[in-house]
Amino acid sequence: MIWKLISAPRNAYNAIVNWFWLRRARVEAEARPTINGRLYIRNRGGRIVLGSGVRINSAHWANPIGGSTRTTVFVGPGATLTIGDNVGMSNVSLVCNDSITIEDNVLLGGDVRIYDTDFHALESEIRNTPEEAGQVRTGPVVVGRDSFVGAGSMILRSSNVGAASIVGAMSVVRGTIPPGEIWIGNPARQHRGAAPRQDTTRRTKPLDT
Ligand SMILES: CC(C)(COP(=O)(O)OP(=O)(O)OC[C@H]1O[C@@H](n2cnc3c(N)ncnc32)[C@H](O)[C@@H]1OP(=O)(O)O)[C@@H](O)C(=O)NCCC(=O)NCCS
Repeated sequence: MIWKLISAPRNAYNAIVNWFWLRRARVEAEARPTINGRLYIRNRGGRIVLGSGVRINSAHWANPIGGSTRTTVFVGPGATLTIGDNVGMSNVSLVCNDSITIEDNVLLGGDVRIYDTDFHALESEIRNTPEEAGQVRTGPVVVGRDSFVGAGSMILRSSNVGAASIVGAMSVVRGTIPPGEIWIGNPARQHRGAAPRQDTTRRTKPLDT
């Protein structure tokens, strides 16, 4: 109760700031997203489309997972970021210079980063020069419906995570993950599970992350 009273002014302030930046970024939202904390969102001439029931944690305090950043969304000229219904994310970075599609019911864990661009040319002769413009490799990213991306993972340009797949914590994805598989590591590879054994892992209810 006391905590609610103390946090009410902060939440009201954050709601106003988020409303302003969502408007400024010309977000096309089916329904207003639930945002804990303050979102960093910039649209430099692209499109941002949000479904309904989107939940975004965007503050260190908003998720005990240890995410050290706010949720950052950047969309470049002519690019499209599409986020489906019931998507949840915590302190993630989405940088979209071409196309990022996050389908319905996807969960992006704390500190996940999704980039659809290399940011810089790979050729050292043109990197950091005016010729670099137009030479940076980009490619669309799709995170399929019902998939779950573990904390700290990075999904790089031209990647496709299949529906209902799992990306293990701290993995780096570049390429295609088929539907319904678990992939882990850097570079991410299919995880076939440990040798058969009795699963004694304690089960708990999900944290609201
Ligand atoms: C990928 C994951 C689901 C696998 O679970 P699991 O099938 O029970 O796997 P196990 O614990 O039996 O591990 C099997 C093997 O994979 C390895 N492994 C598991 N997860 C790994 C990961 N993320 N990266 C690298 N290796 C991993 C284990 O060390 C083990 O190796 P070994 O066989 O050489 O001993 C789980 O480890 C994981 O990463 N969960 C994500 C949690 C998370 O980030 N939540 C988001 C919070 S916002």
